[in-house]
Amino acid sequence: MGAVPRSALQLTAEEMREAGYRTVDMLVRHLTDEEAPPIRRATVGAMQELLGRAAAEEPTPFAEVLAGLEGDVLPYRARGDHPGFFAFISYCGTWPGALGDFIASAANVYASSWMESAGPSQVELEVLGWFKEWIGYPASATGILVSGGSAANMTALACAREALVGPMSDDLVAYVPDQAHSSLARAARVLGFRPDQVRVLPVGQGFRLDPATLQRAITADRTAGRRPLFVSVSGGSTNTGSVDPLAEIAAVCREEGVWLHVDAAYGAFAALTERGREALVGLELADSVTLDPHKWLYQAYECGCVLVRNGTLLRRAFEITPDYLLDAVPGEEEVNFSDLGMQLSRTSHAIKVWTSIRTFGVAAFRDAIDRSIDQALLAQRLIEESVTLEITSPAQLGVVCFSRRFEEAEGEHESDAMHEELIAALERSGIAFISSTRLRGRFSMRMCIMNFTTRDEDVAATIDFLANEPVARHPSPPPAVFEPHVALERGWLGRPRVSADELRLLPLFSDLDDQQVGRVLAASSERTCVKGDAIVVEGDGSRELYIVLEGEAAITRGGEPVATLGAGEPIGEIAALEWGAGFGYARTASATAASAVRALVIPAGRVDELVREIPALGERLRAIARSRLHRP
Ligand SMILES: Cc1ncc(COP(=O)(O)O)c(C=O)c1O
Repeated sequence: MGAVPRSALQLTAEEMREAGYRTVDMLVRHLTDEEAPPIRRATVGAMQELLGRAAAEEPTPFAEVLAGLEGDVLPYRARGDHPGFFAFISYCGTWPGALGDFIASAANVYASSWMESAGPSQVELEVLGWFKEWIGYPASATGILVSGGSAANMTALACAREALVGPMSDDLVAYVPDQAHSSLARAARVLGFRPDQVRVLPVGQGFRLDPATLQRAITADRTAGRRPLFVSVSGGSTNTGSVDPLAEIAAVCREEGVWLHVDAAYGAFAALTERGREALVGLELADSVTLDPHKWLYQAYECGCVLVRNGTLLRRAFEITPDYLLDAVPGEEEVNFSDLGMQLSRTSHAIKVWTSIRTFGVAAFRDAIDRSIDQALLAQRLIEESVTLEITSPAQLGVVCFSRRFEEAEGEHESDAMHEELIAALERSGIAFISSTRLRGRFSMRMCIMNFTTRDEDVAATIDFLANEPVARHPSPPPAVFEPHVALERGWLGRPRVSADELRLLPLFSDLDDQQVGRVLAASSERTCVKGDAIVVEGDGSRELYIVLEGEAAITRGGEPVATLGAGEPIGEIAALEWGAGFGYARTASATAASAVRALVIPAGRVDELVREIPALGERLRAIARSRLHRP
């Protein structure tokens, strides 16, 4: 087969070898180029200029195609394997792994049915067996390799729903901490959960979800007649590397009959090390786990994995056998991976994992992960020793967050702008590439150290640059600040409707123009409550925004008093605002009328519209939400 070409699409054996050798030579040149920066950006125009052309009818010599890839394509990208690549989640593949991928691709493995793929299927079972052992799962668990963490999270949510209830329904509720990866919000959206069926729960100390917060949310939903279904917590959150208290959360879920998923996309492989195992204690109790070998197991993109503790559930959720696949129905002990996930046709992601792990041995992977954990601790120590930097979240797994004290900056706005400039200057220097995030609403620099090419000196040079590089000031007008309790000294009680002038007396709306005030009024209605009325209930999924016009409301969390809110102050803005990916928080506190209360009510959905149309209003509401969200 293939010795004598039968089609223009076939090469001779000699041509195949020649093209292959050339490709390897080009890649080795590319991958060993010590001068390459951690990222090289380009404009759309520049890329179109280099690459934009119609597909030619006539052939192009392979050497020319390859030269185009080497000169015009591959240089313009981030280099996850650069020793100073500390942005987002690092990605750094191994050469044997890449060759494994090449083998799967060149052999064009169809890793879907046992009948057509006994060898690759067994390799996948082997790899899954290793992963199960590493995270403490029983051999009876099942799993599948997928494209990445997003696909794994979606597979887990679909499996949980099928296992516990079957079809989608309006009363099901899923719970995630506010540090959860956005792929969970997307998974919920795709699987038919409306925003009010996803409770985003505020984390507590150390960016970890307090089990009591989860318990309260579940209880509130049960009391309201809803069905708590699925909890996903972090086994290494993207922002800070925080691991939620898995064992305690597992106890809550077991008691409540709720499915526990742990998104340990990058964190799971830390279980190979002693420190990682300690951090992830309780991971083995989850009903399902996401692990991404293309993150901290140094596999080439794409490679994700979902494991499900009860081995029969994944198949029950996904198995489907149309007439045209009856020939490939698996025998008693055989596995058709197409029955365990969303894809029918699929490549073998397992071959690269198997190839690289067998080539280097597990100890080499363990040592590399251990070294990253050490380097994150080194970064933390250097930050703590610096007079200009401060830790915003200490080293957890491979992630450390910090900021610089820009004392000359006037306010948060300017300090944020100076941080952005500092990060850009680091990128321009070619030393390293880091990214940023927001922790409790505050700008933070973030280093993710997971790359086996990183040396201690790369970490030290990066911290040194960030601590000492001069940054020019970026004066910018601060956003208007909300001052609560600016007196609203008008007797409004009994008035049928708030007027535009009256609305402007409220600090939230004080500098809105006539048109904007008109929009707020058109979007809102009024509600009056008698003393003792519940305005919002903690844990509830309602999302209206209230602004107190008259009277006072008592705010409690977990039954404990937190604040009293009076005229002009918003209630419920945390749940009313969209926090990304289309989802918002459940009510984080209860508000009860402490006297007769009159309030303006802006319905769920309209708040997002108003905030988009009136950015100043959005900024004020977000500033208030931020300060209240993390109120001790
Ligand atoms: C914790 C976590 N979960 C899920 C994902 C999504 O994974 P993927 O990008 O492989 O879809 C990420 C990606 O960074 C992550 O950090």
